[in-house]
Amino acid sequence: MGTMKRIGSTYSPANEITVFEGSCLDLLASMPDESMQLIVTSPPYNLGKEYEKRLHLDDYLAQQREVIRECVRVLRPEGSLCWQVGNYVEKGAIIPLDTILYPIFTDLGLKMRNRIIWHFGHGLHCTNRFSGRYETIAWFTKTDRYHFDVDPVRVPQKYPGKRHFKGPKAGKFSCNPLGKNPGDVWAIPNVKSNHVEKTDHPCQFPVELVERLVLSMTRPGDSVLDPFLGVGTTIVAAVRNGRHAHGAEILPKYADIAKDRIQAALRGMLPVRPRGKPVFDPQDAGRALTTAPWLFPDRQAGIR
Ligand SMILES: C[S@@+](CC[C@H](N)C(=O)[O-])C[C@H]1O[C@@H](n2cnc3c(N)ncnc32)[C@H](O)[C@@H]1O
Repeated sequence: MGTMKRIGSTYSPANEITVFEGSCLDLLASMPDESMQLIVTSPPYNLGKEYEKRLHLDDYLAQQREVIRECVRVLRPEGSLCWQVGNYVEKGAIIPLDTILYPIFTDLGLKMRNRIIWHFGHGLHCTNRFSGRYETIAWFTKTDRYHFDVDPVRVPQKYPGKRHFKGPKAGKFSCNPLGKNPGDVWAIPNVKSNHVEKTDHPCQFPVELVERLVLSMTRPGDSVLDPFLGVGTTIVAAVRNGRHAHGAEILPKYADIAKDRIQAALRGMLPVRPRGKPVFDPQDAGRALTTAPWLFPDRQAGIR
């Protein structure tokens, strides 16, 4: 079992953990060039949530550009930057934010390595379009010398018993015993109502999502940054895996929850959905409500 650690309130290279209460631009200004191995964040989507003022799209993009420019400055040459976004919605029309942010990253010299589709099962039910059930993680690197190790995040193959059927390896198992590359479509439940990680924050990351990035893009002891920290999931994912981590959150109530979650994670006491746990299937689980009552009008609705 772990112990309490000091959580710095301002950045210092000597800190293992920093939770800065304030604007990310102020935190970034205090950080040296090329000091972070991974920057992962989900910025405000300009939807007018409690923590953002809805801006004209050009002003929103200008604000994002300022933060992204600073992030690129503090990113190490072998580092990665992962910007997790969904849609901006105006009068029912959607604009996928990654498509309009893309030129900001490439103008700053970054190269895209993956556009990861994060698929989840829950959200608003739309009436005039299909309900949105994915967001993306735009992964960029600063150079071609970036660190990437897929081994810690491999997942089980569908057919691990498969063998080569011809050639010099005929008859030998063809799968990597460590598992397969998880690909760029990730089905990970989003943190809603009865998710074990749920806090008061309306849109927190699942820990598993960030852990995949931390484990594949950093080494133990490296530093991770989340400029829009929310309730601290990025730092939780980092410290659970022996990385240092820093973040800024503008709303004190979320920064407070972040600090509590980080300390709980360090003590091994934070409830976290186990990595690799299959997505809950109510049919497999035999839940009564999976029976459509209109198909069996003679039965009492929902009870088998
Ligand atoms: C989409 S949420 C991120 C949630 C986070 N991924 C988590 O797991 O909790 C964006 C967060 O950024 C914060 N925020 C908005 N503007 C900010 C700024 N300029 N500097 C720092 N934090 C800011 C908001 O209060 C909000 O909690």
